[in-house]
Amino acid sequence: MNITEEQFRKALGLFPTGVTVVTVPVHCGKTVGITVSSFTSVSLSPPQVLFCLSKHSKTQPVFEVSPYFAVNILKANQSHLSDGFAQRMPLNWDSFHTHYHTTTECLLISEALGNVICEKAAVYDGGDHDIILGRVIDVIVNPNDLPLVRQRGQYLTIQSIPDEPSMICKVK
Ligand SMILES: Cc1cc2nc3c(=O)[nH]c(=O)nc-3n(C[C@H](O)[C@H](O)[C@H](O)COP(=O)(O)O)c2cc1C
Repeated sequence: MNITEEQFRKALGLFPTGVTVVTVPVHCGKTVGITVSSFTSVSLSPPQVLFCLSKHSKTQPVFEVSPYFAVNILKANQSHLSDGFAQRMPLNWDSFHTHYHTTTECLLISEALGNVICEKAAVYDGGDHDIILGRVIDVIVNPNDLPLVRQRGQYLTIQSIPDEPSMICKVK
């Protein structure tokens, strides 16, 4: 490739994404969550999603053994959770509401835009990241709220325009 890693990172940062926090079941021994923007849908039938996890992440050994994971899709007003789970700002687990998914015991962020609970289906080599494929076993949604969006290393605030189906975006 004729561009540097930094140029590559900047180019891909142009692509806007939602922001999620991926968590594991409480019985995995450690309460971990990690901010992830590489979450995407894969298949409708069977329902499958994926996210990419850095092989260097401190959370990698926990995800490696966990049979389940939950993707918590963040709302527009939850950038503090994104920063917290990216370990940029220390985060107190008691400062926001969580609960456990009944069957998998995955830790869920109660006020997220949505929670997608998955059984790990496969892990593929993706260079310096693992590509973790999940079979969706449950979905909880709060569809009337707005999502947190990130582009070029900044959070965007999305606002609904009353009486219009469109939304506008501005840098926070
Ligand atoms: C908005 C945002 C999106 C991120 N997306 C990912 C991702 O998709 N995969 C990943 O492994 N790390 C991602 N990170 C980095 C991790 O959240 C974390 O900061 C990094 O892995 C270092 O901490 P750790 O060693 O505890 O994992 C993202 C960080 C931010 C702020």
